[in-house]
Amino acid sequence: MKFGYFDNKNREYVITRPNTPLPWINYLGSEEYCALMSNTAGGYSFYVDPRDQRILRYRYDNVPFDRGGRYIYIRDNKSKDFYSPTWQPVMKELDSYECRHGMGYTVVSSLYDKIRTKISYLVPPKENLEIWMLEIKNESKKTRDLSIFSFVEFCLWNAVEDMTNFQRTWSIGEATCEGNIIYHLTEHREERNILAYFICSEKIDSFDTQRRDFLGNYGYNSLEKPDAVVKGKCSNSIAIGWAPVGSHCIKVKLKPRQEKTIIFVLGIAEKKSDAKMYRKKYKKKEAVLKELKNLAVYWDENLAKFKAETPDEDMNTMVNIWNQYQCRMTFNWSRYASYYEAGIGRGMGFRDSNQDTLGFVHQVPDKVKERIVDLASTQFERGDAYHQYSPLTKKGTGGGYSDDHLWLIFSVASYIKETGNIKFLEKMVPYDTGKSGKIYDHLERAIKFSWKHVGPHGLPLAYYADWNDCLNMKGKKGKAESVLVAEMFVAACNEMVRLAELSGRKTEARKYAKLAIEMSDRINKVAWGGAWYLRAFTDNRKPVGSSKNKEGKIYLETQPWAVISGVAPENKGIKTMNSVKKMLATEHGVILQQPAYQTYHPELGAVSAYPPGLKENAAIFCHPNPWAMIAECILGRGELAFEYYKAILPTAKNNIAEVRKTEPYVYCQMVAGRDHPDFGEGKNSWLTGTAAWNFVAASQYILGVRPDYKGLLIDPCIPKKWEKFTVSRHFRGARYNITVLNPNKVYKGVKEIIVDGRKISSNILPVFGDGKEHSVVVVMG
Ligand code: GLC
Repeated sequence: MKFGYFDNKNREYVITRPNTPLPWINYLGSEEYCALMSNTAGGYSFYVDPRDQRILRYRYDNVPFDRGGRYIYIRDNKSKDFYSPTWQPVMKELDSYECRHGMGYTVVSSLYDKIRTKISYLVPPKENLEIWMLEIKNESKKTRDLSIFSFVEFCLWNAVEDMTNFQRTWSIGEATCEGNIIYHLTEHREERNILAYFICSEKIDSFDTQRRDFLGNYGYNSLEKPDAVVKGKCSNSIAIGWAPVGSHCIKVKLKPRQEKTIIFVLGIAEKKSDAKMYRKKYKKKEAVLKELKNLAVYWDENLAKFKAETPDEDMNTMVNIWNQYQCRMTFNWSRYASYYEAGIGRGMGFRDSNQDTLGFVHQVPDKVKERIVDLASTQFERGDAYHQYSPLTKKGTGGGYSDDHLWLIFSVASYIKETGNIKFLEKMVPYDTGKSGKIYDHLERAIKFSWKHVGPHGLPLAYYADWNDCLNMKGKKGKAESVLVAEMFVAACNEMVRLAELSGRKTEARKYAKLAIEMSDRINKVAWGGAWYLRAFTDNRKPVGSSKNKEGKIYLETQPWAVISGVAPENKGIKTMNSVKKMLATEHGVILQQPAYQTYHPELGAVSAYPPGLKENAAIFCHPNPWAMIAECILGRGELAFEYYKAILPTAKNNIAEVRKTEPYVYCQMVAGRDHPDFGEGKNSWLTGTAAWNFVAASQYILGVRPDYKGLLIDPCIPKKWEKFTVSRHFRGARYNITVLNPNKVYKGVKEIIVDGRKISSNILPVFGDGKEHSVVVVMG
């Protein structure tokens, strides 16, 4: 069943009914101002940090669902009937409804009792504000006398305080209205030099800034039926304490066919005079239309860095539009603020953010460079790292994971492959103590940490957890070991070999090559289980992910990483990936581990605490799925790689949206596994490493256009029935228009490459850096 469709020409997903299986959201704003926006106008906004600078209040897991948002009420003053043109919060049935989520904007259009509305919500590029433009038209034959209300509920900046410390927060809220601007002034008089403003372009009839007065009945009424709207007028309340809100009431008379535009601007400023400037700037519809155009240009430029035309429409929609858009949002907000991450706990994850750069580096490499520096600055001198940091203070917290620091090597390597900026390795960056070292030294210390801290089998210690947050094996002895970290270590050493060679550190290169071989040997000696690789050893040296285990016999992660890292010789690589296919692959994606744990295993921790089929206990955890695709591409099995790609591809699930439930335009973190009655149901959409890794798998391994240190490597691995596809890619200052032909219907293999009419001898396209377009014809075979 469908709840909407893709309009690729406009880069929009069009939702055709308001009650989607979950709120289907969008992220407005790509820089410092962020507005989460659902298809029924739910959501919240924040500036830089969702914990400390939250602008709108949102009630997670509320009843009814998805409350707190950017609401508009329309009341017919004659019939006294009222409704919300975005369906929520009044939830009266609309005569028509459509929501278009686009790149940086959302437009909700509806019809109710012959009143047609179109509300465009957007965050203009480079602005710290959001605009809601309401276009309203009377399609009836009578003159209509309407009261229109805006409504937001302000968060008192610190979102944690806001939901916990009511003895204080109920006495600090302040809001007022001057002319047609509402100001949220909580804490403005002391510590904070930030205020929020909420502007209406029109003359207002009345306003409310105290929630209790807007709702009426001492605040017992709900947003479905607030007193102000029932009566057709606000009460000019001023918030001193309690709950500051912002509502403008505008009276409008519309003759038959008459139209009107009302513009609301919500944003942050240091002082009131800044807000007044925005009132002027965005008073006219033309100014807003111009910003919508600017947004289109902004996204044209970003998305033009990579474009593909393949025989698979679902893939095209995803790689050209939504996957890249999602990569930007995960890069921006890590696992911090979504509809499932409350924006108060996690900050920017070290492991997560490093991986997020992999899918975004082609769009804005300079931003990735900055991010890597921020991340590296939270590394400890001994090599490991804080688990996360706050985007506002850039200070780290947490730590004690076995994998975090190694991801830094992959993000640096990928940044250098994209840009060729090998000098970045020499950049001085502080450790958490303030003492500085070259980026290269940071990487070296990361390697050293894992090399030195090993357990009884010589594999890196597992500590609290590795990539799998829920495999918590740290026992009394502190001897548990991670096979995954060992494989990551080998892959990281392989990158270090290249980085050392390219930066003139020959002896070092040899050292890393030796470390890689030594660790590979250890893995093959102690962690090869016969048909697949083990996952770990517990504190008591017991294998995890072995055929000897009753539950959790096979884990996904260590199979593809054995191939990616080169630890598995080809025969073992094929064998191990065959085991994945046989034991873990389903039509909804590859399961993380099987058989599911039915009982709690204290020596393994949280992985066995989830009900079977959910999260790390045998769900289809989407993030490692692209690792399986990449491994299959390395092995040359294009059919399998593509099968795995399609199995979790959101666009390919649009027809069964009632099963998948999460947005058909973005990846989600997990899909319930076959041990769960809701097999196939997605959860936790948007902020997931799945986005970056799928973009890497699709663009670099399936389509095979892969930045490498020396140039752009061409190495596709596709379904063999594909006869042709094209990729247009920006790379180090030039554009490569690549046509790949597959006349012999092979999965993999490049027979010939012609660049600008001339045959080249390797499959690495030269770096032109000349700002020009270059034509590349690749013949597979
Ligand atoms: C979540 C975390 C990520 C972790 C994964 C597996 O997605 O954000 O850091 O690797 O779960 O546990």
